[in-house]
Amino acid sequence: MIIEPRTRGFICLTAHPKGCEQNILNQIDYVKSKGAIDGPKKVLVIGASTGFGLASRITSAFGANASTIGVFLEKPPKPNRPASPGWYNSAAFETQAHQAGLYAKSINGDAFSKEIKQQTIALIKKDLGQVDLVIYSLASPVRVHPETGVKHKSVLKPIGNSFSNKTVDFHTGNISQVSIEPATEEDIENTVTVMGGEDWKFWIDALQKEDLLAPEAKTVAYSYIGPKLTEPVYRKGTIGRAKDHLEATAFSITDALKNINGKAYVSVNKALVTQASSAIPVIPLYISLLYKIMKENNVHEGCIEQMQRLFADRLYSNEKLATDDQGRIRVDDWEMREDIQAKIKELWDNATTETLGTIGDLEGYSNDFFNLFGFKVAGVDYDQDVNEVVEIPGLQSL
Ligand code: NAI
Repeated sequence: MIIEPRTRGFICLTAHPKGCEQNILNQIDYVKSKGAIDGPKKVLVIGASTGFGLASRITSAFGANASTIGVFLEKPPKPNRPASPGWYNSAAFETQAHQAGLYAKSINGDAFSKEIKQQTIALIKKDLGQVDLVIYSLASPVRVHPETGVKHKSVLKPIGNSFSNKTVDFHTGNISQVSIEPATEEDIENTVTVMGGEDWKFWIDALQKEDLLAPEAKTVAYSYIGPKLTEPVYRKGTIGRAKDHLEATAFSITDALKNINGKAYVSVNKALVTQASSAIPVIPLYISLLYKIMKENNVHEGCIEQMQRLFADRLYSNEKLATDDQGRIRVDDWEMREDIQAKIKELWDNATTETLGTIGDLEGYSNDFFNLFGFKVAGVDYDQDVNEVVEIPGLQSL
């Protein structure tokens, strides 16, 4: 079929298999161009199909020749109904990995559930024996709690006071004022339950119980801080509370891994266009200004550049691993540079529908958004008929 983008707000209902494949090929090329990393050998990536998790998987496989198991929640294709992009990404990744002689298998299902954890455990036992790196990169709006069966929904709200600021509709470039009411206590608890560290700890506990973590195994989850400008809706809002919880969980996991000398890290990553971040009010405007400034300063990175740098220069570098005073790895260092942030602050005040085209990188934002779904990718002929029914070669059947 001919597949075109069909957007509704910050989501796109369709995805293009060839575009997704090209994105994977580009990411693999990038990782290879940076040279071999003396990195992990057997890796479990939870949230492996898009964004930072996918980039971590590609870096592990094509930077360090690692065997990878990916867990994700993606919609398979049906005739005349394209799959979700993470499905096509995983299909292309596994095809490339297998061609390169690398072990790569996937599990599609709810990572929060006991069943998917058990299935993953069985697969590791059968095929890998143990893993030496576990990446935890879930971004989800909901979580059904495995003990209570209650479905928790996360929200993106400020805490304490309502918050008003500018936001942009990145499809039209229209800047408007957005006002968000403060969260209730229940909203905060729900968001921490979905995006905090509890499930990360559940995963590590389950793996450890079965002796599936190799000596000195590492586990990494991803967090975000960002500038003062976005604090009310991000770091000091409901999602920030969840990130506080996630970051605190790293310490309790490290404690629990003492007997194998294992370690849990949080890496604070840069703000990027992903399916998760497009949904947060105010952030898209911030990102379009950020992109402009970072590109002008030659320090712009996408997910793959961030993850390649995380692995090569931090996690698996010979240098002593640098962390901030709260023990976090910072690959948001270039985003948070004083000169970059000072410039954004200045531009923020001047950002209007009329000026954004020149002072911001709305086009870069919009392109990256469409790229997530395999659209507007250079080198892909979108007039060509494509087969929407694509299989993931290493997908395990439930
Ligand atoms: P994403 O939306 O691109 O990826 C989310 C992944 O989680 C996908 O593989 C998806 O299939 C999987 N997933 C979601 N629900 C699932 C479920 N119930 N069961 C199994 N898999 C499920 O998200 P992104 O942006 O890569 O986020 C990953 C992490 O990085 C999150 O913790 C996020 O807060 C963090 N982060 C994101 C930043 C950004 O600007 N996008 C910046 C810094 C950190």
